[in-house]
Amino acid sequence: MTTIEAPTPSTAPPAATPRWLERVDNPYLQGPYAPVISETRAVELELDAIGEVPTDLTGAFVRNGPNAVFEPPGPYHWFDGDGMVHAVWFREGRVTYRSRLVPTRDLAAEWRAGRALFPGVMDRVDPARPIASMKDTANTDLVWHHGRLLALWYLCGEPYRLDPVTLEPDGIDDFGGRRRTTVSAHPKHDPRTDELVWFTLGDVEPPFMTYGVCDPDGTLVHETPIDLPGPRAPHDITITANHSILHDFPLYPDPVILREHGHRVVRFHRDEPTRFGVIGRREDGVRVRWFEFEPGYVLHMVNAWEDGDWIVMDGCFQPDPTIRPDPAEGPLASMLAYLRIRAHLRRWRMNLRTGEAVEEQLDDLNVEFCLPDTGRYGERTRWSYHQHLPLGSRTVDFAGIVKYDHTDASSVRWDHPEGWMGSESPFAPRDGARAEDDGYVLSFMSHVDGRSEVWVFDATDIASGPVCRVPLPSRVPVGFHAKWITGAQVWGETATAP
Ligand SMILES: [Fe+2]
Repeated sequence: MTTIEAPTPSTAPPAATPRWLERVDNPYLQGPYAPVISETRAVELELDAIGEVPTDLTGAFVRNGPNAVFEPPGPYHWFDGDGMVHAVWFREGRVTYRSRLVPTRDLAAEWRAGRALFPGVMDRVDPARPIASMKDTANTDLVWHHGRLLALWYLCGEPYRLDPVTLEPDGIDDFGGRRRTTVSAHPKHDPRTDELVWFTLGDVEPPFMTYGVCDPDGTLVHETPIDLPGPRAPHDITITANHSILHDFPLYPDPVILREHGHRVVRFHRDEPTRFGVIGRREDGVRVRWFEFEPGYVLHMVNAWEDGDWIVMDGCFQPDPTIRPDPAEGPLASMLAYLRIRAHLRRWRMNLRTGEAVEEQLDDLNVEFCLPDTGRYGERTRWSYHQHLPLGSRTVDFAGIVKYDHTDASSVRWDHPEGWMGSESPFAPRDGARAEDDGYVLSFMSHVDGRSEVWVFDATDIASGPVCRVPLPSRVPVGFHAKWITGAQVWGETATAP
């Protein structure tokens, strides 16, 4: 294990110590959420496993999340922490673990200064103070494209490239020298074409959304403005074989506060519709076809596909995203309320010939952080894997895994034992898999006593619990998005050959 290294070692002061953590009263900086103060480089773990490490699992399980390095200058929001990637590689029954901070430009500036420099999500609007941009932490998701992992930020930022074998930083991706905008946290890699489909948001002036496509060699080949009535706050984008689906929800920032003070104060406008815009993969933005649905918000979609004239899309719908702070929770009430997600599985269908828009609630369990087999993005999928978020928890609690059957909305569920919290849980196909759920489901597990493990479930039988538990040598704080990166993507085309 090594101490965290500065992104710019030649000018870096000594690494941050955890002493400031003792001064901060914030549940998202304590217990299983507390940041770690060291990176871990290449620890092979095979001998520690509880249960048998699958020998037919080849690839990398990666997860991004917040890991504050410096004491926050103001109230800390869970979204503010510096991006840190935890990764476990599986190959021929061997397991290797690494963790690494994403060395962003803004973190490098803080390291040179020896302290935090940027305001956080919960900093107050101060008209007397000049607008200060927030720190691009690249802490939200990871997507594989063109041989690299891209670490990305939820408010749209720079795509930070990491080596999928070592997590070594490899600069900022400029999309073949053509990128002029930031990129949102959840671009989609099309497994059939190897294209990357992305969007970004504009704050003050149109275009308030830009949509784009990169070709398999990483070059931006399509970029078009999307006409929206003002600044918006969509978080995700969905693809089918030929189309992309853009989101416009009636939960959006006050444009005046955003323009004059640089703060995104979002409100839910319950008298306005949810809109989804269908655009051909490389079509001009003026050709978007918008479909209207019940007002609400969606953080994450499961998947979308084409069925004749219909676009079918499943996701986790929040019918009432109103933020209701509890005054008894003091200055953190707004953040705690925002992070109490209330979402259920829903299906939207859009007919490209008739313009029909149909929606249907599929279940009522509170679920989010949903993933299908991401190797099947854009095609009809039967199965998806969600996190069960119990209502009533003070903080986000990844309490268990729910596997949905999208043919009839039935589900099976595994509840993590007391004291353990999981992570977003991607599906990992078994080498030579023949069926859609022929493989494993993985979760980083954090215990309140400080232990961390990776649990491996049989995807066809998650209700029986993990088939293998791999203890990790370092604590993994509860975080955001996780992905499975196939052996071929990590090591090249021959990695999964028999
Ligand atoms: Fe997200």
